[in-house]
Amino acid sequence: MPKGSILVIDDETEIREGLEALLSSEGFQVTLTDTATSGLAKLEDQPFDLLLLDVSLPDRNGLDLLREIRRRDPYLSVILITAFGSIDMARAAFKSGAQDYITKPWSNDELVAQVSLAIEGRRLREENVQLKRALKQRYNFPNIIGKSEKMLALLDLVTQIAPSRSTVLINGESGTGKEVIAKAIHSASTRTDKAFIPVNTGSIPVDLLESQLFGHVKGAFTSAVASKKGLFEVADQGTIFFDEIGTIGPETQAKLLRVIQEREFMRLGGTDTIKVDVRILAASNEDLRGLVREGKFREDLYHRLNVISLYLPPLRERKEDVPLLVERFLERYCQENGKPPRSFTNGAMKLLMDYDWPGNVRELENVVERGVVLSVQELMDVDLLPESVRTREIVKGVRLQLAEFLPPMPGESALHGNSPSHSLFEIMEEVERRIIVDMLERTNWNQTEAAERFQIPLSTLNQKIKRLGIETRRRTASSPRGGFGSEAEDSASTASTTR
Ligand SMILES: Nc1ncnc2c1ncn2[C@@H]1O[C@H](COP(=O)(O)OP(=O)(O)OP(=O)(O)O)[C@@H](O)[C@H]1O
Ligand SMILES: [Mg+2]
Repeated sequence: MPKGSILVIDDETEIREGLEALLSSEGFQVTLTDTATSGLAKLEDQPFDLLLLDVSLPDRNGLDLLREIRRRDPYLSVILITAFGSIDMARAAFKSGAQDYITKPWSNDELVAQVSLAIEGRRLREENVQLKRALKQRYNFPNIIGKSEKMLALLDLVTQIAPSRSTVLINGESGTGKEVIAKAIHSASTRTDKAFIPVNTGSIPVDLLESQLFGHVKGAFTSAVASKKGLFEVADQGTIFFDEIGTIGPETQAKLLRVIQEREFMRLGGTDTIKVDVRILAASNEDLRGLVREGKFREDLYHRLNVISLYLPPLRERKEDVPLLVERFLERYCQENGKPPRSFTNGAMKLLMDYDWPGNVRELENVVERGVVLSVQELMDVDLLPESVRTREIVKGVRLQLAEFLPPMPGESALHGNSPSHSLFEIMEEVERRIIVDMLERTNWNQTEAAERFQIPLSTLNQKIKRLGIETRRRTASSPRGGFGSEAEDSASTASTTR
């Protein structure tokens, strides 16, 4: 089976034939054509995974053609072929909706890598559309996105337990979607047309929490000028969801236990017992069992809550869900901000996939929202990602590159036979040098911008550049200099091709 179908539109015979020879030998199915008009006809004729498009065609400007093709097929991946590379060219290419561009003459390895990445991108976008459809058929949870085994297993469980009245404890790190799951349980239950009341116990002072939950009678405390219903009464027949259940104090814990056991309570200051039929869901991002052991959480309440427990895995353990979530959030925030549809470049998507997401889905959502708000064109590149997402990547890259220079641990053989020994000082200097070079590459060697991004004075950056012997004009990957080797230059040039 071919790895993907590629249409080449280029008027130079040599280029066309060169591309055909190279790409078919790599297993791609290649179709050649030489004008904009015949290219459009081919695209109408049959589906392609990728278009390699020459910017200067005899019958039409390539960028112009690209805009028309984009209008017809927003998902087609496109790589532009240009005679010379420049930042302006790259900008124009991305603005008209290309995923990437290559300059003549190209390196074959790099070209094949770019082509594979672009085709993979298209597959992903299509897969997402199909998955969404499948998810909708399998479960009726329109607000939950996920295709990872872990999420699908969780959704199976949610479907099973939703109809019962059992209390459910939802565990998981902050931002993993505990409230989303709680709502799903409610909406898949028979209580769906009754109230779903979320209570964030962590943010309410104790006295206020009790009066909010159980209500109060007139005169129960100084400011109680009238009787008031509590949330348990409001949630009658429906579901109440305690977020951050681990934060509630001992007195409220005792009262809550009573509601769970007896399904009844009294308003603050009141004497009448009020009976309710409420399903209780609770969530915690702390280990409740740990709190029980420490004596901070009642053991009996813990067991009452923990009749059924669900665990939401952190996002870093289900990275397959990242592209789907990104797509959902792009859609949402483009709509909210009145912007036309946006997507991330392959390079940006790779950073999103590589990042560990300590703040889980919420952090991802914020990153996408920020990017959409700041974006001015359809394709969103790495510069729209916050430093946290990018720095991690730089540091990880540096660590990988440095592995061979670090002294081996006892019992560990050196990675490269006779490992050179460097002092910690030398290693730190090398790390600093690589990070600075990387940032300079990312800012197109604009020292003022680099200093701003590093949040240091320009003069400090200047001194460092001098001390570390960094040459301050744009260099190519083939002219390594200084330091321990050429890895920094290689990685910096890889980063810059994705813009
Ligand atoms: N599977 C998912 N599909 C779509 N959106 C999700 C998913 N999981 C989480 N989100 C979104 O991520 C954000 C955080 O989710 P939620 O508030 O449910 O997390 P949480 O686990 O309750 O966090 P915390 O512990 O901080 O209260 C919300 O905006 C939610 O819509
Ligand atoms: Mg929450």
